[in-house]
Amino acid sequence: ESIEKGGYEHFMLKEIHEQPRSIADCLRGRLDAENQRLVLGGLREHMATFQNAKRIILTACGTSWHAGLVAEYLFEEFARIPTEVEYASEFRYRNPVIHTGDFVIAISQSGETADTLAAIEMAKSKGATIFGVCNVVGASIPRATHAGSYTHAGPEIGVASTKAFTAQITVLGMMAIKLGYALGTLSGSRYRELLLALQAIPQKVEKVLGLNEKVKEIAEVYQGARNFLYLGRGYNFPVALEGALKLKEISYIHAEGYPAAEMKHGPIALIDAEMPVVFIAIQDSSYEKVVSNIQEVKARKGKVIAIVTEGDEQVRSMADHVIEIPPVEEAFSPLVAVVPLQLLAYHIAVLRGCDVDQPRNLAKSVTVE
Ligand code: G6P
Repeated sequence: ESIEKGGYEHFMLKEIHEQPRSIADCLRGRLDAENQRLVLGGLREHMATFQNAKRIILTACGTSWHAGLVAEYLFEEFARIPTEVEYASEFRYRNPVIHTGDFVIAISQSGETADTLAAIEMAKSKGATIFGVCNVVGASIPRATHAGSYTHAGPEIGVASTKAFTAQITVLGMMAIKLGYALGTLSGSRYRELLLALQAIPQKVEKVLGLNEKVKEIAEVYQGARNFLYLGRGYNFPVALEGALKLKEISYIHAEGYPAAEMKHGPIALIDAEMPVVFIAIQDSSYEKVVSNIQEVKARKGKVIAIVTEGDEQVRSMADHVIEIPPVEEAFSPLVAVVPLQLLAYHIAVLRGCDVDQPRNLAKSVTVE
């Protein structure tokens, strides 16, 4: 087993560090920005249905559902097709309105999640086209779908999903670019820009992994916290949810992810000097608004840990800790911003003596409802 961990103390740490390679593997043979080529074999036969879809529905559980939330922003921004994201466990029992022309995307690392599989069967029986985004080749979900694209992240052993999440967003990002370009909602120049931006992600993730020691120092300060709040907006709202989920899964600290602007409708009441608040505060279209949320937290003596864009002085002057990530295309920023949050959860859990790879009460693959 120690050989399989490749010198890392846990599978989770190994898998976090594999991300530059797993994202590159996911892009390999599909995206070639220099030649402006983007090929997704699984989509070829279904491209017409995808382009004509009146609606896209993403369904999944857990971390995969968070990848679906990022994709909602991607599909609506790039392709202007109304998109919904559904917890498979709710979707399957709600008798939802589904039309023949709806394009349903099921996202699953294991390809075995019982609720996701049942949601697929239900949507199929109502005439939708089902596309799978899975990691495990030949699993039940890829067999139950009409078509799909694998994430090619390699085996994920740690129960808390890391590299599968970034690979899912990578596939969904390619799908959104392809769709937007085919529909003409993305211009030729924006198409090229996005291809280049996605191709550059592995090297940016590599850079963020260099912050491991810095993140560990922050983990040492907050390892005894009883609660954590994670806040982000836009593309990084799902990243806030994912950061909070990682922390609760493996460290058993209560953590909540929230859209930053919703803080005033509840979570702000929890803020005092004992409350660490993690902000994704990169220089994107919601930057100024997030900065004012940081001020609100500081005014109540909360502790602020902020993920910022390299060189940011404004947030540095307000936050207790900053973690700098390289500048990145907003639409793909979740792929980079999530990495320090994975590391933060990991180090806090290790410091608390938790079993990081096999957290209590959780299973890697949930084959019962
Ligand atoms: C379990 C795992 C999570 C995962 C979720 C969905 O809860 O512990 O890491 O996100 O199932 O699994 P799937 O294999 O469908 O992505």
